[in-house]
Amino acid sequence: MADRYGLIGAPIAHSLSPSMHNFWFEEYGISGDYRLYPVEKDDLAQAVSRIKEAEIKGFNVTFPHKTAILPLLDEVDEAAEVIGAVNTVVQTGGRLIGYNTDGIGFLKGLKRNFPNFIDKRSSVLILGAGGAARSVALTLARATGAHVAICNRTYSKAVALSAACGKYSDSDALNFDQAERQLDQYQVVINTTSIGLNPDEDHSVIHLDKSLPGTLFADLIYNPSRTAFLREAEQLGHLVMNGLPMLVYQGALAFQKWTGVFPETEKMEDRLIKIYL
Ligand code: ATR
Repeated sequence: MADRYGLIGAPIAHSLSPSMHNFWFEEYGISGDYRLYPVEKDDLAQAVSRIKEAEIKGFNVTFPHKTAILPLLDEVDEAAEVIGAVNTVVQTGGRLIGYNTDGIGFLKGLKRNFPNFIDKRSSVLILGAGGAARSVALTLARATGAHVAICNRTYSKAVALSAACGKYSDSDALNFDQAERQLDQYQVVINTTSIGLNPDEDHSVIHLDKSLPGTLFADLIYNPSRTAFLREAEQLGHLVMNGLPMLVYQGALAFQKWTGVFPETEKMEDRLIKIYL
Protein backbone atom coordinates (compact mmCIF):
# COMPACT_ATOMS: atom_id res chain seq x y z
CA MET A 1 0.00 0.00 0.00
CA ALA A 2 1.20 3.53 -0.81
CA ASP A 3 2.46 5.68 2.07
CA ARG A 4 -0.20 8.14 3.13
CA TYR A 5 0.13 11.93 3.21
CA GLY A 6 -2.37 14.75 3.33
CA LEU A 7 -3.59 18.18 4.30
CA ILE A 8 -5.61 19.05 7.40
CA GLY A 9 -7.61 22.26 7.73
CA ALA A 10 -10.99 23.77 6.85
CA PRO A 11 -11.99 24.81 4.28
CA ILE A 12 -9.59 22.89 2.04
CA ALA A 13 -11.69 21.65 -0.91
CA HIS A 14 -9.96 24.01 -3.37
CA SER A 15 -6.41 23.20 -2.30
CA LEU A 16 -3.91 22.54 -5.10
CA SER A 17 -1.69 20.47 -2.77
CA PRO A 18 -3.06 16.99 -3.69
CA SER A 19 -2.51 17.66 -7.38
CA MET A 20 1.00 18.93 -6.70
CA HIS A 21 2.20 16.15 -4.38
CA ASN A 22 0.53 13.26 -6.23
CA PHE A 23 2.12 14.48 -9.47
CA TRP A 24 5.55 14.54 -7.82
CA PHE A 25 5.04 11.07 -6.28
CA GLU A 26 4.38 9.72 -9.75
CA GLU A 27 7.17 11.73 -11.37
CA TYR A 28 9.77 10.39 -8.91
CA GLY A 29 8.40 6.82 -8.71
CA ILE A 30 7.63 7.20 -4.99
CA SER A 31 4.70 5.22 -3.64
CA GLY A 32 2.68 7.97 -1.96
CA ASP A 33 -0.93 9.04 -1.82
CA TYR A 34 -1.81 12.64 -0.74
CA ARG A 35 -5.39 13.33 0.31
CA LEU A 36 -7.50 16.09 1.83
CA TYR A 37 -8.54 15.55 5.44
CA PRO A 38 -11.03 18.28 6.39
CA VAL A 39 -10.64 18.98 10.12
CA GLU A 40 -12.72 21.64 11.86
CA LYS A 41 -11.29 23.91 14.55
CA ASP A 42 -12.53 21.91 17.57
CA ASP A 43 -11.55 18.51 16.17
CA LEU A 44 -7.81 19.03 15.89
CA ALA A 45 -6.60 17.01 18.89
CA GLN A 46 -8.68 13.99 17.88
CA ALA A 47 -7.50 14.28 14.26
CA VAL A 48 -3.85 14.35 15.35
CA SER A 49 -4.20 11.17 17.41
CA ARG A 50 -5.96 9.46 14.48
CA ILE A 51 -3.11 10.49 12.20
CA LYS A 52 -0.65 8.87 14.61
CA GLU A 53 -2.65 5.65 14.77
CA ALA A 54 -3.10 5.55 11.00
CA GLU A 55 0.67 6.00 10.54
CA ILE A 56 0.21 8.80 8.04
CA LYS A 57 3.81 9.59 7.09
CA GLY A 58 3.46 13.31 6.62
CA PHE A 59 0.93 16.07 6.35
CA ASN A 60 0.46 19.75 5.71
CA VAL A 61 -1.44 22.00 8.08
CA THR A 62 -3.48 25.01 7.07
CA PHE A 63 -6.08 27.40 8.45
CA PRO A 64 -7.20 27.30 11.27
CA HIS A 65 -4.66 24.86 12.79
CA LYS A 66 -1.20 26.26 12.02
CA THR A 67 -0.65 27.62 15.55
CA ALA A 68 -3.01 25.40 17.52
CA ILE A 69 -1.15 22.26 16.45
CA LEU A 70 2.15 23.19 18.12
CA PRO A 71 1.41 21.75 21.60
CA LEU A 72 0.06 18.53 20.02
CA LEU A 73 3.36 17.68 18.32
CA ASP A 74 6.28 15.71 19.82
CA GLU A 75 8.88 18.12 18.46
CA VAL A 76 8.85 21.50 16.71
CA ASP A 77 11.72 22.71 14.56
CA GLU A 78 13.38 25.91 15.79
CA ALA A 79 12.29 28.10 12.85
CA ALA A 80 8.67 26.97 13.22
CA GLU A 81 8.87 27.66 16.96
CA VAL A 82 10.10 31.22 16.30
CA ILE A 83 7.35 31.80 13.72
CA GLY A 84 4.80 30.20 16.03
CA ALA A 85 3.20 28.19 13.23
CA VAL A 86 3.60 24.79 11.58
CA ASN A 87 2.56 23.96 8.02
CA THR A 88 4.38 20.64 7.57
CA VAL A 89 4.55 17.59 9.84
CA VAL A 90 6.71 14.48 9.46
CA GLN A 91 5.79 11.27 11.30
CA THR A 92 8.77 9.10 12.11
CA GLY A 93 9.01 6.29 14.68
CA GLY A 94 5.59 7.28 15.99
CA ARG A 95 6.73 10.86 16.65
CA LEU A 96 5.29 13.95 15.00
CA ILE A 97 7.81 16.65 14.09
CA GLY A 98 6.57 20.08 12.95
CA TYR A 99 8.22 22.45 10.48
CA ASN A 100 7.32 25.69 8.73
CA THR A 101 8.15 25.83 5.01
CA ASP A 102 6.00 28.92 4.20
CA GLY A 103 8.54 31.68 4.81
CA ILE A 104 11.47 29.81 3.31
CA GLY A 105 9.21 28.82 0.39
CA PHE A 106 8.53 32.50 -0.24
CA LEU A 107 12.25 33.33 -0.06
CA LYS A 108 13.25 30.50 -2.41
CA GLY A 109 10.57 31.58 -4.91
CA LEU A 110 11.81 35.16 -4.74
CA LYS A 111 15.43 34.08 -5.20
CA ARG A 112 14.59 31.94 -8.20
CA ASN A 113 12.66 34.73 -9.94
CA PHE A 114 14.95 37.58 -8.84
CA PRO A 115 18.39 36.21 -7.99
CA ASN A 116 20.59 38.44 -5.80
CA PHE A 117 17.73 40.88 -5.31
CA ILE A 118 17.63 40.77 -1.54
CA ASP A 119 20.47 40.88 1.00
CA LYS A 120 21.29 42.54 4.32
CA ARG A 121 21.46 45.99 2.69
CA SER A 122 17.87 45.67 1.42
CA SER A 123 14.83 47.25 3.00
CA VAL A 124 11.63 45.25 2.82
CA LEU A 125 8.13 46.50 3.60
CA ILE A 126 5.60 43.89 4.70
CA LEU A 127 1.91 44.82 4.49
CA GLY A 128 -0.03 42.88 7.13
CA ALA A 129 0.91 41.33 10.46
CA GLY A 130 -1.12 38.09 10.53
CA GLY A 131 0.08 34.50 10.28
CA ALA A 132 1.37 34.71 6.70
CA ALA A 133 3.21 37.96 7.50
CA ARG A 134 4.89 36.31 10.52
CA SER A 135 6.28 33.46 8.38
CA VAL A 136 7.61 35.77 5.69
CA ALA A 137 8.87 38.62 7.92
CA LEU A 138 10.68 36.41 10.44
CA THR A 139 12.21 34.24 7.70
CA LEU A 140 13.48 37.30 5.80
CA ALA A 141 14.85 38.86 8.99
CA ARG A 142 16.64 35.64 10.00
CA ALA A 143 17.81 34.43 6.60
CA THR A 144 18.77 37.71 4.89
CA GLY A 145 19.36 40.24 7.67
CA ALA A 146 17.45 42.80 5.58
CA HIS A 147 15.68 45.72 7.25
CA VAL A 148 12.08 44.57 7.71
CA ALA A 149 9.34 47.18 8.17
CA ILE A 150 5.90 45.96 9.20
CA CYS A 151 2.80 47.94 8.29
CA ASN A 152 -0.62 46.85 9.51
CA ARG A 153 -4.15 48.20 9.94
CA THR A 154 -4.07 47.15 13.58
CA TYR A 155 -0.90 48.95 14.60
CA SER A 156 -0.32 46.97 17.82
CA LYS A 157 0.11 43.79 15.75
CA ALA A 158 2.70 45.54 13.56
CA VAL A 159 4.58 46.55 16.72
CA ALA A 160 4.53 42.99 18.08
CA LEU A 161 5.78 41.42 14.83
CA SER A 162 8.41 44.10 14.39
CA ALA A 163 9.69 43.44 17.93
CA ALA A 164 10.01 39.73 17.07
CA CYS A 165 11.90 40.53 13.83
CA GLY A 166 14.10 42.98 15.73
CA LYS A 167 15.88 40.03 17.39
CA TYR A 168 17.37 39.13 14.01
CA SER A 169 17.57 42.34 11.96
CA ASP A 170 16.62 46.01 11.91
CA SER A 171 12.86 46.39 12.05
CA ASP A 172 10.18 48.99 12.60
CA ALA A 173 6.40 49.26 12.70
CA LEU A 174 4.39 51.65 10.53
CA ASN A 175 0.83 52.65 9.85
CA PHE A 176 -0.50 52.82 6.27
CA ASP A 177 0.03 56.61 5.97
CA GLN A 178 3.67 56.38 7.01
CA ALA A 179 4.29 53.47 4.64
CA GLU A 180 2.80 55.39 1.70
CA ARG A 181 4.85 58.49 2.46
CA GLN A 182 8.17 56.64 2.67
CA LEU A 183 7.61 54.00 -0.02
CA ASP A 184 10.77 55.17 -1.82
CA GLN A 185 12.85 53.61 1.00
CA TYR A 186 12.01 50.00 0.08
CA GLN A 187 13.35 47.69 -2.61
CA VAL A 188 10.77 44.98 -1.90
CA VAL A 189 7.12 45.46 -0.87
CA ILE A 190 5.09 42.37 0.04
CA ASN A 191 1.31 42.19 0.47
CA THR A 192 0.41 39.47 2.96
CA THR A 193 -3.12 40.75 3.66
CA SER A 194 -6.18 39.10 2.17
CA ILE A 195 -7.12 42.27 0.26
CA GLY A 196 -7.35 41.26 -3.40
CA LEU A 197 -8.42 37.69 -2.72
CA ASN A 198 -12.06 38.60 -3.06
CA PRO A 199 -13.21 40.37 -6.27
CA ASP A 200 -15.40 42.68 -4.11
CA GLU A 201 -12.34 43.89 -2.25
CA ASP A 202 -9.90 44.29 -5.11
CA HIS A 203 -8.11 47.52 -4.34
CA SER A 204 -4.44 48.10 -3.61
CA VAL A 205 -3.66 47.99 0.12
CA ILE A 206 -1.70 51.25 -0.09
CA HIS A 207 -1.10 53.93 -2.76
CA LEU A 208 2.06 53.16 -4.67
CA ASP A 209 2.81 56.55 -6.25
CA LYS A 210 5.88 57.27 -4.03
CA SER A 211 7.66 54.04 -5.08
CA LEU A 212 11.05 54.15 -6.85
CA PRO A 213 11.63 52.51 -10.27
CA GLY A 214 12.90 48.94 -10.01
CA THR A 215 11.03 48.12 -6.80
CA LEU A 216 9.79 44.54 -6.53
CA PHE A 217 6.14 44.15 -5.51
CA ALA A 218 5.11 40.69 -4.30
CA ASP A 219 1.69 39.39 -3.28
CA LEU A 220 1.14 36.10 -1.47
CA ILE A 221 -2.14 35.69 -3.37
CA TYR A 222 -1.86 33.55 -6.54
CA ASN A 223 -5.52 33.51 -7.57
CA PRO A 224 -6.23 36.05 -9.06
CA SER A 225 -2.75 36.01 -10.60
CA ARG A 226 -2.71 39.82 -10.54
CA THR A 227 -4.36 41.53 -7.57
CA ALA A 228 -5.09 45.27 -7.87
CA PHE A 229 -1.87 45.77 -5.87
CA LEU A 230 0.21 43.92 -8.50
CA ARG A 231 -1.70 45.46 -11.43
CA GLU A 232 -1.01 48.95 -10.13
CA ALA A 233 2.67 48.09 -9.55
CA GLU A 234 2.92 46.66 -13.07
CA GLN A 235 1.34 49.78 -14.57
CA LEU A 236 3.98 51.85 -12.79
CA GLY A 237 6.65 49.69 -14.48
CA HIS A 238 7.73 47.77 -11.37
CA LEU A 239 8.78 44.13 -11.02
CA VAL A 240 6.00 41.88 -9.72
CA MET A 241 5.66 38.36 -8.32
CA ASN A 242 2.44 36.64 -7.22
CA GLY A 243 2.02 33.87 -4.62
CA LEU A 244 2.45 30.90 -6.96
CA PRO A 245 6.24 30.47 -6.48
CA MET A 246 5.68 30.45 -2.69
CA LEU A 247 2.90 27.86 -3.00
CA VAL A 248 5.07 25.56 -5.09
CA TYR A 249 8.27 26.00 -3.04
CA GLN A 250 6.57 25.50 0.34
CA GLY A 251 5.16 22.29 -1.15
CA ALA A 252 8.52 21.23 -2.60
CA LEU A 253 10.20 21.75 0.78
CA ALA A 254 7.50 19.68 2.50
CA PHE A 255 7.92 16.94 -0.15
CA GLN A 256 11.65 16.95 0.57
CA LYS A 257 11.06 16.57 4.33
CA TRP A 258 8.85 13.54 3.66
CA THR A 259 10.80 11.79 0.89
CA GLY A 260 14.33 13.20 0.82
CA VAL A 261 13.75 14.39 -2.77
CA PHE A 262 13.60 18.09 -3.66
CA PRO A 263 11.25 18.03 -6.65
CA GLU A 264 11.25 20.08 -9.84
CA THR A 265 9.39 23.37 -9.28
CA GLU A 266 9.34 25.38 -12.53
CA LYS A 267 7.41 22.78 -14.52
CA MET A 268 5.01 22.50 -11.58
CA GLU A 269 4.29 26.25 -11.68
CA ASP A 270 3.49 26.06 -15.42
CA ARG A 271 1.36 22.98 -14.86
CA LEU A 272 -0.72 24.58 -12.07
CA ILE A 273 -1.25 27.73 -14.16
CA LYS A 274 -2.41 25.66 -17.15
CA ILE A 275 -4.71 23.33 -15.25
CA TYR A 276 -6.17 25.46 -12.49
CA LEU A 277 -5.46 29.16 -12.75
P1 ATR B 1 -3.11 35.09 7.31
O1 ATR B 1 -2.82 33.82 8.06
O2 ATR B 1 -3.53 34.86 5.88
O3 ATR B 1 -2.02 36.09 7.42
P2 ATR B 1 -4.57 36.54 9.33
O4 ATR B 1 -3.62 36.03 10.35
O5 ATR B 1 -6.03 36.55 9.64
O6 ATR B 1 -4.43 35.71 7.98
O7 ATR B 1 -4.10 38.03 8.92
C1 ATR B 1 -4.80 38.83 8.01
C2 ATR B 1 -4.02 40.11 7.75
O8 ATR B 1 -4.70 40.86 6.73
C3 ATR B 1 -3.94 41.03 8.97
O9 ATR B 1 -2.72 41.74 8.90
C4 ATR B 1 -5.13 41.97 8.75
O10 ATR B 1 -5.01 43.22 9.38
P3 ATR B 1 -5.50 43.39 10.94
O11 ATR B 1 -4.44 42.78 11.78
O12 ATR B 1 -5.62 44.85 11.12
O13 ATR B 1 -6.82 42.67 11.03
C5 ATR B 1 -5.05 42.16 7.25
N1 ATR B 1 -6.33 42.57 6.66
C6 ATR B 1 -7.39 41.80 6.35
N2 ATR B 1 -8.39 42.55 5.81
C7 ATR B 1 -7.93 43.82 5.78
C8 ATR B 1 -8.48 45.07 5.33
N3 ATR B 1 -9.70 45.14 4.79
N4 ATR B 1 -7.71 46.19 5.43
C9 ATR B 1 -6.46 46.12 5.95
N5 ATR B 1 -5.88 44.99 6.40
C10 ATR B 1 -6.61 43.85 6.31
